[in-house]
Amino acid sequence: MANLVVFYSRKGTTRNIAEMIINKENWDFEEIIDTKKRSGFIGFLKSGKDATLKKLAKIKEIQKDPELYDLIIMGTPIWNKRMTPAIRTYITEKKSKIKQVAFFCTEGGSGGLRSFESMAQLCEKTPISTLEITKKDIKNGDHTDKVTKFIQEIKMEKK
Ligand SMILES: Cc1cc2nc3c(=O)[nH]c(=O)nc-3n(C[C@H](O)[C@H](O)[C@H](O)COP(=O)(O)O)c2cc1C
Repeated sequence: MANLVVFYSRKGTTRNIAEMIINKENWDFEEIIDTKKRSGFIGFLKSGKDATLKKLAKIKEIQKDPELYDLIIMGTPIWNKRMTPAIRTYITEKKSKIKQVAFFCTEGGSGGLRSFESMAQLCEKTPISTLEITKKDIKNGDHTDKVTKFIQEIKMEKK
């Protein structure tokens, strides 16, 4: 069975990392669309607040059935040291259909590890691999090797 890359991105950074993974391996993907207006400064403030309060989001209808995949690779930006409401909603709605997970995130510099722990708790599954990409990683070009290592680990650990 195949792998599915599921991600949310507000500004495109997480989408870029997701695309690197998807293009390298030709894995299927699902981009989660949060219908709330999150652009601009007000959008930024609302987003941080929603993440802190662990709010769920109104997301567009999911197209791909996670039950048809043996691994879901989930990607989120970090907001106020937490997963985004869009990813929280996806996990909450779909967790009974998810068999194995791997996580990746993009962030300014901190909060990824803590968020991976909450994501694992919410999924009720330990990730087979995780990838945390900081702004500095992208600036230095370190993200490419990190993505390659993440994919290798997924292939090794996947049952
Ligand atoms: C509301 C909000 C809160 C954020 N909180 C954090 C944070 O706690 N830690 C961090 O390192 N970066 C934080 N960031 C930065 C984003 O995680 C980072 O820019 C990420 O790469 C954005 O991904 P995207 O371009 O896919 O939306 C925050 C960004 C936003 C919009």
